[in-house]
Amino acid sequence: MLEPVELDGGVVMRLLAPGDGPALAAAYERNREHLAPWEPLRTPEFFTTSWHERDVAGAMLRLEAGALIPLVLAAGDEGAEIVGRVNLSDLVRGVFQNAHLGYWVDGRFTGQGLATTAVGIALHHARAAGLHRVQAGTLVHNLASQRVLERNGFERFGLARRYLRIAGEWQDHVLFERLLED
Ligand SMILES: CC(C)(COP(=O)(O)OP(=O)(O)OC[C@H]1O[C@@H](n2cnc3c(N)ncnc32)[C@H](O)[C@@H]1OP(=O)(O)O)[C@@H](O)C(=O)NCCC(=O)NCCS
Repeated sequence: MLEPVELDGGVVMRLLAPGDGPALAAAYERNREHLAPWEPLRTPEFFTTSWHERDVAGAMLRLEAGALIPLVLAAGDEGAEIVGRVNLSDLVRGVFQNAHLGYWVDGRFTGQGLATTAVGIALHHARAAGLHRVQAGTLVHNLASQRVLERNGFERFGLARRYLRIAGEWQDHVLFERLLED
């Protein structure tokens, strides 16, 4: 379980690893403009290696605790470049067996089906982890992301008003769910 998976174009999808801080800082710097409309406002520290080294260390603890499945898309020589992320976060057990899904793909790699394939693999991991349901929210105008979800069998189940503070504004989100037994 959670073995690396080879995708088209020399991209490998694997678990986040302790040494990923520098590649993540570089990836967010390269994709500053591409990601800005879809993410929280970032501080200057966010783009530093030390910020990401601390963040990766926190993610490793949450992975160990069973609360997070953090995945990255790696490319280039020996997978040195990170060109995307997929997170299954806030895993809740008991009667819920639910996780939240988030993802992005490097601007140079979009439009090739990468996010669609990567979300499909994340669903496989979610199922293998014994989850029952995965939930995701997209900005109302994020049609590409909605398409990625729909192609992976997600269904819309609601509209959450002013749900997340994205790009500095509380913005409405379309909510999607995928029941993993379906
Ligand atoms: C959304 C995102 C992950 C998509 O990644 P990707 O690898 O290009 O996605 P895919 O190629 O697998 O699929 C994209 C689909 O959206 C479609 N699409 C792209 N732009 C679109 C648009 N403006 N309107 C409607 N559909 C669009 C594509 O045609 C494709 O559908 P198809 O395969 O049926 O043709 C990527 O653009 C990204 O990282 N965006 C910024 C961060 C983000 O939005 N993350 C998600 C937050 S919920």
